Amino acid sequence: MLEQLGRKFARFTTNQVLRRPGAWRFLRGLMRLQFERLAPVWDTMRNPDSFSPLEAALASIETSPGRALDVGTGTGAAAFILAQRFPEAEVVGVDLAGGMIAEARGKTPPELADRVRFQEADAERLPFTDGSFELVTLSNTIPFFDELARVLAPGGTAVFSFSAGPETPIYVPPERLRKELSRRGFTDFAEFAAGRGTALVARKPRTE
Ligand SMILES: C[S@@+](CC[C@H](N)C(=O)[O-])C[C@H]1O[C@@H](n2cnc3c(N)ncnc32)[C@H](O)[C@@H]1O
Repeated sequence: MLEQLGRKFARFTTNQVLRRPGAWRFLRGLMRLQFERLAPVWDTMRNPDSFSPLEAALASIETSPGRALDVGTGTGAAAFILAQRFPEAEVVGVDLAGGMIAEARGKTPPELADRVRFQEADAERLPFTDGSFELVTLSNTIPFFDELARVLAPGGTAVFSFSAGPETPIYVPPERLRKELSRRGFTDFAEFAAGRGTALVARKPRTE
């Protein structure tokens, strides 16, 4: 019952924020509360194929990023996938919920500890300078397109993945992603389907 309500709230918030990003200021508190509550059990709620679409999208990236950011990292699973796929990369995972960040830190494998770090931050206002990352990933997370484009380096890659495709509570259809990203100059779109989910890759232009 509570889980159903939570899924509905996540879907509602996603749609509101996509329509009017300013709505986030009213919804942020409840969203954080929801994920603080879920942090200790989050990993038990995922399926084994939850990150198949992300992995399929990452396999298409030929150049290893120097720095990669995972936004809405939750317990850090996608950040660990990034670090394993790109052994040269430094990886940062950010999340709104401190409980998620604590879980992610506790789950960091010792062999990744010198390259992966986690910090509490809001995707709407990221604490990084312009162009800080060559790769930014979002798995099952609401995108704030302007902020994402700001922290991505020219020529950098953005990856959006949704574990259960349109059934994912936080879901943005590929047409919407393409439209928002095209408006900001992104190109080279590619779509992927794997497991039960979907992903989209896009590239930020080299020069503005
Ligand atoms: C559906 S969970 C996905 C977690 C993880 N990416 C995964 O796929 O398992 C969404 C996560 O995004 C975080 N989140 C929601 N809004 C955010 C925001 N504006 N900035 C940063 N994190 C946010 C939540 O706290 C939660 O951990």
